[in-house]
Amino acid sequence: MEDWYEKFKQHMNVIFTKKDFLNYLDMVKHDLWIYEKYLKKDAKLLDCGCGLGCTAIPMSYLGYNVTGIDIDKKVITAAKKNAKKFGKKIKIMNVDLYDIDKKFKLNSFDCIMHGGVLEHFPKRKIPTLIRKMLKVSHLIIASFPIMSKRSAKHYHIKKQGDRTICCDGLYRNLWTPKEWKEILKDFNIIETKKIKCHPSIGNFDEMFVVIKK
Ligand SMILES: C[S@@+](CC[C@H](N)C(=O)[O-])C[C@H]1O[C@@H](n2cnc3c(N)ncnc32)[C@H](O)[C@@H]1O
Repeated sequence: MEDWYEKFKQHMNVIFTKKDFLNYLDMVKHDLWIYEKYLKKDAKLLDCGCGLGCTAIPMSYLGYNVTGIDIDKKVITAAKKNAKKFGKKIKIMNVDLYDIDKKFKLNSFDCIMHGGVLEHFPKRKIPTLIRKMLKVSHLIIASFPIMSKRSAKHYHIKKQGDRTICCDGLYRNLWTPKEWKEILKDFNIIETKKIKCHPSIGNFDEMFVVIKK
């Protein structure tokens, strides 16, 4: 398993400064249109793989009721500190994505937000994860980097056997939108949108996918 805490520590402050938080708030505002399109201002959100809280904490600051979960205990400890410093209605929990259907009741959230996580799983595992998420929420708004000239340049991808390793040393799949549609073909996709990511996180292309039960 990846040591996410160490990876984060190598290229960002694990405990956010005010400047970091304002930067993440700006990043979240860049993508807010998609949440505002589908959700009420105080909707109950589950951030699956919340990391240090770069998305979850600004979303709570903006009025959403957020629960963030992550598998990495050290990441969770830092995310809790960040949430205490900058969050509003937010709860951070150490939960494995594979256990969400056991940990949370059926339809307990209005939406699952899921940014920068799915691309770290092999193709065959993604439908299983989506099925589990659809048990706890009827709506998923997921985003992930997609293959393009810009993304390939940003991530300096290298092949290691059948795995794609990026310049940050992480296993990450850069699939095209067509490949993603094939991976997600069994689900009710109600919107897809390709965008250029916010400059604070790099210079790559990403895609938002909205999945409804
Ligand atoms: C790139 S980070 C996600 C960033 C975060 N979504 C954000 O908005 O800043 C990927 C995160 O997924 C978490 N993760 C990986 N596998 C997981 C699993 N099985 N269950 C829960 N979290 C997981 C990692 O610990 C890591 O913190």
